[in-house]
Amino acid sequence: ELTLQPLSGYSAFPGPVVAVIMDGIGLGPADDSNGVHVAYTPTLDRLFQDKLMFRLKAHGKAVGLPGDGDMGNSEVGHNSLGAGRVFAQGAKLVNEAIAGGTIFTGRTWKEVMARGGQGGTVHFIGMVSDGNVHSHIEQLYALLDRCAAEKVKRVRVHALIDGRDVGEKSALDYIVPLEQRLAAISGSGLDYRIASGGGRMVTTMDRYNANWQVVENGWKAHVLGEGRQFTAASEAVAAYYAEDPAMTDQYMASFVIADGGTPVGTINDGDAVILFNFRGDRAIEISRAFEEDVFTEFERVRRPDVLYAGMMQYDGDALIPKQYLVEPPAIDRTLGEYLCAAGVTSYAISETQKFGHVTYFWNGNKSGYIDKKLETYDEVPSDRITFDLRPWMKAAEITDRVIEAVAGGGYKFIRLNLANGDMVGHTGIEPAVRIAVETVDLCLGRILAAVGKAGGIALVTADHGNADCMWTEKKGKRTPMVAHTLNPVPCIIVDYSGSNAFVASGCADPGLSNVAATVCNLLGYQAPEIYDPSLVRLQP
Ligand code: 3PG
Ligand code: CO
Repeated sequence: ELTLQPLSGYSAFPGPVVAVIMDGIGLGPADDSNGVHVAYTPTLDRLFQDKLMFRLKAHGKAVGLPGDGDMGNSEVGHNSLGAGRVFAQGAKLVNEAIAGGTIFTGRTWKEVMARGGQGGTVHFIGMVSDGNVHSHIEQLYALLDRCAAEKVKRVRVHALIDGRDVGEKSALDYIVPLEQRLAAISGSGLDYRIASGGGRMVTTMDRYNANWQVVENGWKAHVLGEGRQFTAASEAVAAYYAEDPAMTDQYMASFVIADGGTPVGTINDGDAVILFNFRGDRAIEISRAFEEDVFTEFERVRRPDVLYAGMMQYDGDALIPKQYLVEPPAIDRTLGEYLCAAGVTSYAISETQKFGHVTYFWNGNKSGYIDKKLETYDEVPSDRITFDLRPWMKAAEITDRVIEAVAGGGYKFIRLNLANGDMVGHTGIEPAVRIAVETVDLCLGRILAAVGKAGGIALVTADHGNADCMWTEKKGKRTPMVAHTLNPVPCIIVDYSGSNAFVASGCADPGLSNVAATVCNLLGYQAPEIYDPSLVRLQP
């Protein structure tokens, strides 16, 4: 049932189809706040004039998020690109499970409550913001309220500070109300507190094995109670701001809340731990640290015997974690599965920070190969720095390898992710964002030349915006904007095959989920019927 039918009237061409995902490069207004606009981008400028240039929706309902106020992100973006249709995503599924109450009737929640009833502490680890990319603080509130309603005596929150999907110094907007909420619950005789925390980029939320030190920092703070001590999380944030005016939330060192030198909430045998983030990439490593019997990524010192559960299952291949509160989106029949069934060879590459985006997210949150004989996944190791310091990142290295893969002729389908627009966009450092975008443009030019030489077809797109808004202005005062945007993204098809076979299909209101069908067509196959329609059709 995974068969692809040939596209009749379409003749084979020599080169590969190459999908370039320019992470975080959206289409914003033509003004100075737009890093894509202000950068020198001769290649993109030329592409934006192309007759097969589409503007794709990359946020909100078009990618399975709860509302059209939700910015896009790499997970939902790459899921949509790779699965050819829209699935209700974690943010939405968790909301529904809470609203319908099903989250509290499942086996996992009941076991967590049992731990609480037997004198164990119930711990919630996760990011406290309303970014809705990895988590939502309202969902945490719902879980806390339910614990209180079920009379769980002792609850501890390990609060990861965002400043990346929300304002870069917005921590207190979330920490203060959270502290108030916990205090209010505690007023009725229960004992609910924040126990530890830290900025998300240095505490717990590493991804793709980029830097396990980050997870170790979190383990020490959350589990062992080791780290700089404060009497309250709001005090920690205020102290960090006061000590370094340049400090922003995502980079705040981990902290431990203590009473008279004693941490108030280490994680111990008999406790329950819920990681309340729904998105997987930055949730897998800490989950492994709790779950794996044999573990060599760092010295855990002590591994408490806890009931560990995720908000969702984060990896559907490796089954991480074993227990979870909400079923993840059942993403099936991905483009990768169809192409493998059709015997199409493929090559996927990015640098570490986005490696899983073109493999794991692309394949519907499954980390393994679909068919190792047909697929090659390639990773260029990322630097372990904040990327404003080297905004070119590993784009040139990725490009070198792509050119080799194109010229080698061994792959029919090549996909790559250039991380710069997004990773540098998240730093909010303007000159660095410009260089990031210019790097992408330069590399894109090289890739297109290679595709041209091979007689292939390029599809150039992005997963969501970011660099396209570097700051916002209120009353003449500029604030750096580090998060993603709501802007559409480009999708340009550049045909060097000589056939010039395709014209725009005229499909209405296209989004990222229309790309997979398009790739099928470019490769000479009819798109599966279940897929959202292709952006192109054969010239009549
Ligand atoms: C991150 O995890 O870095 C941000 O929250 C989202 O960025 P991404 O969706 O581009 O990975
Ligand atoms: Co991003």
